Amino acid sequence: MSNFKGLFISKNQVWKEQLSNLLNDDQIELTTVSDWKRTFLEQQHYHYIFVDLETIDDPRKLQVPSTSILIGLTSEHDFEIGRELLVAGAKDLILFPEEEHRLNHLIKELNNQFLFQKEAESGYGTGQVHAFYSAKGGSGKTLLASMVAQSLSIHQQLKVLVIDLNAQFGNIEVLFGSQPFRSYYDLIPVMEEMDIRHIQNIGQYIEEANLTLITGPTDPAKAEQIPDELISRLIRVAKSQYDFVILDLPTSINNLSFTGLNEATHVHYVLTPDSLGLRAYKYAAEMFDRFQIGKNDNLSIIVNRVHSKLELTEKDISKILDREVHGLIHSDFFSIQPTLNMGGAFFKKVKDKGSTKVAKDVKKYSDELIKRTMR
Ligand SMILES: Nc1ncnc2c1ncn2[C@@H]1O[C@H](COP(=O)(O)OP(=O)(O)O)[C@@H](O)[C@H]1O
Ligand SMILES: [Mg+2]
Repeated sequence: MSNFKGLFISKNQVWKEQLSNLLNDDQIELTTVSDWKRTFLEQQHYHYIFVDLETIDDPRKLQVPSTSILIGLTSEHDFEIGRELLVAGAKDLILFPEEEHRLNHLIKELNNQFLFQKEAESGYGTGQVHAFYSAKGGSGKTLLASMVAQSLSIHQQLKVLVIDLNAQFGNIEVLFGSQPFRSYYDLIPVMEEMDIRHIQNIGQYIEEANLTLITGPTDPAKAEQIPDELISRLIRVAKSQYDFVILDLPTSINNLSFTGLNEATHVHYVLTPDSLGLRAYKYAAEMFDRFQIGKNDNLSIIVNRVHSKLELTEKDISKILDREVHGLIHSDFFSIQPTLNMGGAFFKKVKDKGSTKVAKDVKKYSDELIKRTMR
């Protein structure tokens, strides 16, 4: 039985035969058509869409859904049309039939990716994945991600893993007073068969907070070598073993942070109540909308660095954002500083409500989060 559906747009009868035969072993059921019509895609979802570039005059007119993979086939080395196709979102351009082997190889790899995706979607692991994000730097993402992680582990006694997705300058390890010598960069060689033991090998158990921390490489050249797929695998394997996977994201959206946002079951947006913070939120909200991130109730807003002189109330902010605010964290620089410098724990035991205003606010936020997400 075929697992995948493919569509081939070409007027070339010989090619239609050739491609059909070629894909036979790959469990792709191929439908061939001579002209492109948008309605094809409304009736049926295709995993693959192959186009003969001779048939299509303008590749940009092909509006392929992001869940389909577009592959161009051409008989000539025409750079210009190939470039246009790639701009239109194609995965690859194959010189046909010369590069048959390359096509075969590509399809095998992509089929595996589809299968892996399916496995993950059918509930591989039940843990929640919570990403802390803000489009403005210095908002408190790292601080709040680590404090919420501690509260979940100490107060709720959940099994928690923290992953730092800042390629550089993440510094979450400082908050935990740890000096990790391994990072998820070390998972590259085992990416295909990654399992929980690999994750435990590179993670660092933080005794005081009773949680595990995984950091990224500090070397930017190494960070660039990390494939997105490594991050999604890491998160998926992790959530089969941990109750909560907490992601500390950078401000900038790169493929690692974007993958993190996409894998998150819940996004916490950290907003500072100032005009820059509000403006940054607008950008982020547009991006979330475009990529369907934090849909439904899966986006929480935390207003951080609230202080007594602030003229905006929670209500005002809620009105400006046109959405509910889920938590307020006070600004308390001097009292949290000693804990930060020492890399100590913010909460010591179940009954510990925290000794600073910030810690108390975080505990309240985390308690409410559990009520919202674990019902
Ligand atoms: N509510 C707060 N009260 C006091 N200091 C805070 C608060 N939130 C964040 N900070 C401090 O602000 C700085 C930036 O926070 P950080 O978590 O690193 O931001 P981000 O990860 O968003 O760049 C840190 O020194 C942090 O300790
Ligand atoms: Mg940070």
